[in-house]
Amino acid sequence: MSGGFDFDQEINREGSSSVKYDGRQAMFGKSDVIPVWVADMDFAAPPAVTRALIERAAHPIYGYTLFPDSLYQALIDWMQRRHDWTIQRDWIVMCPGVVPSINAAVMAFTQPGEAVIVQPPVYFPFFSAVTETGRELIRNPLHLENGRYTIDFDHLEQCAKDAHLLLLCSPHNPVGRVWQPSEMERLLEIAEKHDLIIFSDEIHADLIYPGNRHYALGAFPGHAANIITAVAPSKTFNIPGLNLSALIIPDKSTRNAMTQVFNTLHVSASNPFSITAFEAAYREGETWLEALLIYLRDTRDSVATFLAQHLPEIKVIQTEGTYLLWLDCRAMNMTDAQLKQFFVGRADVGMSPGTLFGTEGSGFMRLNIGAPRRTVLRVLDKIVQVRHG
Ligand SMILES: Cc1ncc(COP(=O)(O)O)c(C=O)c1O
Repeated sequence: MSGGFDFDQEINREGSSSVKYDGRQAMFGKSDVIPVWVADMDFAAPPAVTRALIERAAHPIYGYTLFPDSLYQALIDWMQRRHDWTIQRDWIVMCPGVVPSINAAVMAFTQPGEAVIVQPPVYFPFFSAVTETGRELIRNPLHLENGRYTIDFDHLEQCAKDAHLLLLCSPHNPVGRVWQPSEMERLLEIAEKHDLIIFSDEIHADLIYPGNRHYALGAFPGHAANIITAVAPSKTFNIPGLNLSALIIPDKSTRNAMTQVFNTLHVSASNPFSITAFEAAYREGETWLEALLIYLRDTRDSVATFLAQHLPEIKVIQTEGTYLLWLDCRAMNMTDAQLKQFFVGRADVGMSPGTLFGTEGSGFMRLNIGAPRRTVLRVLDKIVQVRHG
C-alpha cells in the first residue's frame, strides 16, 4: 500500500476494449506482449472519481450537459494550489482532448503552407497535426548531452524567423524533461522577438518527481498574448478514456481564434461522465496523486538500478516528470528493426519504438512504468534473460 492506495494491485484489463491490452495484436502483430506502450496506467483511478461516476450513472438520464461553474472553479483552484498560477474563469476553454486542441491551434494560427516548429523526439501527434493540415514542419531537435536533453535555443531562434507557431511539450514526452524557469524565459524571449505563438501542452504537468518543479509557461508575467496552455486531469488521474481537457488562454483574441475553430467543427465536450470525473479528480484526487508520485518515483529508481546492474547497455535518460522512461539502447548496437525483433519478437515486451517520436528517436525505446512494480520488473527480467540467455 502506498499512502492508503494499492498500486500493487494487478487488475485484468483484457477484454475491456483497452487500447493498451486489446490493441496489442494491431500494434505489435502478437497479443502476448507485456503492454508497456500507450500512455495510460494500469492503476485504478482515485476512489473519489469512481464514486462520483457511480453516483452520476445512478441518475438514469444522460442528456446534453452543461459545464457547471463548479467545474471551472475546481480547475481554477487546482492551478492555484498545485501550480501557483491564478487563472480566471474567462480564460478557460473546454475541449475533449489535447490532441484535437493542437490540431485546432495549427488551423487557427497558421495557413496551409506555413511553418510550425516541433522539438523532436516528441509525442508523434505533434507531427501529424502539422503535416495532415498541409502545414510545413520545422524541426528544432532537442540536444542530448550526458544523459539529459536540452533545447537548442540558437537553432530555435533561426527556426522562429520562418514560423508563427511552436508546439511545446512541457513536461516533455518522451524525454522526461521538466523545463526550468531559465529555459522558459529564453523561450518566451524568442517568442516575443519573432512574434511566435506557443501552444504549451502541459498534460503531464502534475506528474513531477520529487526534486523537480513544473512551471506553467502562461504564468510567466508579460507574455500572455502569445500562449495557449493545455491541461487535463487525464494523465494525472488515469482517466484519459473520458476525454476532457481544458485550454487556458488569457488573451481574448487568441481565445476567440481557437473557439472559432472549435465552433466550425462543432466540437462539443459536454459528456456528463467526463465532466463528473474531471471535477471529482481535481477536487478530491490530491492525496491519491501524492501517493502515486511516490510509487512512480520508486519504480523509476528501481528500473534505473536494475538496468545499471544487469544490463548497462540500456541507459535510462534522467526522468524528471511523466511515467514514461526514455531508454537509450544505442549501445546494444542494433538497428531499429533489430530492436523491435529483440524486444517484441523475443522478449515479449511491448514498448513504444523510439522512431515513433521522429528519426531522432532511433536507437531508443519508451517504457511506460504506470503499472504495478511487479509488472515493470517482469519486463526487465524478460529483457535481461533474452539478452544474456
Ligand atoms: C504530450 C501529450 N499530449 C497529449 C496527449 C493525449 O491527449 P488527449 O488524449 O487529451 O488527446 C498525450 C498522451 O499520451 C501526450 O503525451
